[in-house]
Amino acid sequence: MEKERILIVDDEEVIRHSLGDWLRESGYYVETAEDGYKGFQMIKNKEFDLALVDLKMPGIDGMELLKKSCKVRPQLPIVIITAYATVDSAVLAMKHGAVDYVMKPFNCVEISMIIEKILERQRLIKENVRLRKALAKRFQFQDIIGKSPAMAKVFEMIRMVAPTRSTVLITGESGTGKELVARAIHALSPRAEKPFIAAACGAMPETLLEAELFGYEKGAFTGATTSRVGRIQMADTGTLFLDEIGDISAKTQIDLLRFLQEREFRVIGGKTLIQVDIRIIAATNQDIELLVKKGDFREDLYYRLNVITINVPPLRERKGDVRLLVAHLLEQVLLDTGKQISGLSEDAMKAFIDFPWPGNVRQLENALEHAVIIAKSPEIAIGDLPEYLRPQSQVKNVEYGQLPLSDVEKQHIEQVLRFTKYNIKRSAKILGINRVTLYNKMKLYSIIRP
Ligand SMILES: Nc1ncnc2c1ncn2[C@@H]1O[C@H](COP(=O)(O)OP(=O)(O)OP(=O)(O)O)[C@@H](O)[C@H]1O
Ligand SMILES: [Mg+2]
Repeated sequence: MEKERILIVDDEEVIRHSLGDWLRESGYYVETAEDGYKGFQMIKNKEFDLALVDLKMPGIDGMELLKKSCKVRPQLPIVIITAYATVDSAVLAMKHGAVDYVMKPFNCVEISMIIEKILERQRLIKENVRLRKALAKRFQFQDIIGKSPAMAKVFEMIRMVAPTRSTVLITGESGTGKELVARAIHALSPRAEKPFIAAACGAMPETLLEAELFGYEKGAFTGATTSRVGRIQMADTGTLFLDEIGDISAKTQIDLLRFLQEREFRVIGGKTLIQVDIRIIAATNQDIELLVKKGDFREDLYYRLNVITINVPPLRERKGDVRLLVAHLLEQVLLDTGKQISGLSEDAMKAFIDFPWPGNVRQLENALEHAVIIAKSPEIAIGDLPEYLRPQSQVKNVEYGQLPLSDVEKQHIEQVLRFTKYNIKRSAKILGINRVTLYNKMKLYSIIRP
């Protein structure tokens, strides 16, 4: 195993030497800096597992160094070294993110113990991260996480259609991962090295969308002061992803249909026909067959697009993927925020698994981000979750009207148990039932005492 790296920042030479030697003998790799400025440069430019920082130094003092380090290396644990007289500032330093402090004159054994305790936690966090990564990888297909049978089917479809040039229609609720599926098809296709161009068809009014898709010549309409290449042309030799296809207007439907039939088009305001070689992938979160029935979507266009359909199931139909998704997405959120979180508490995880996720994976992703930002301890607690995920409020949220009575009862019992810290006698009294009934209901709803 590689030696763990410790930085000592102290203006007193004897401390740098004696402490440095002691720690080296204890098996660590040690570097030292004699002032806050040098210390900061080293923290910024090198990787350390821990830093010991003297509070009182000329120039940049320990407190300032601490604040600066937290910005560039939020993960680095910093232990403050302080003289007895300044213990108040040591407490202040802890508030600013120092993990611990030692008082001068100190004894080396005491420091070793503090360091070991911190590094042990670091190792645990690292190990957790490694395990999470390994776990997610095992069930990862391109960037798509999933081990449920429903997702296995999606993966199989992707593998099947990727090598072909067939048009694919991806359906599924909002946030289920349709765009990921489209990108995976492209990435596994012979066109992988060619462009993947997405056009958000639902986001714009008709004229803008047509300009976006087909491009325009200078002077084609008022405001067209320059010419512009459309998405269709940009996607030549590659893949064009028509997102939210169910939202396009009747006119654009005709124009698209014509293009799909001929595989050629005219730039708006242009004369020549342009031929392109593109693979089309379309996606919609609407029930497109219903749109066709209602006459809102052209049947002929539907048949053009619907050569192969891949339906991405909603998250509530693949609960088995929730844990994996949490692990994988937590990893990404942590990378973005630089926070140190080792995972979710059991009841927080349970809330994630139990929730029906109307907004699917995107909503789950947002909920995790929320929790990571709020969390104060290395483990995400139930109180860190967005309100709609916390059992006591679940009854109040939009899903309320759709909850069966048994769910409401279960949630209420859980809430009371949490409130009494799982004191059965008190809980039963609050609930107005006897203890045996409470035990039976706990068994029925698989409520386990933590
Ligand atoms: N199976 C999955 N594994 C990992 N990440 C996922 C998965 N499914 C979705 N995501 C993530 O969730 C978010 C939403 O996914 P995506 O944009 O593909 O959904 P969508 O179906 O296109 O949604 P919409 O209909 O709202 O456009 C993205 O950040 C995506 O990376
Ligand atoms: Mg999308």
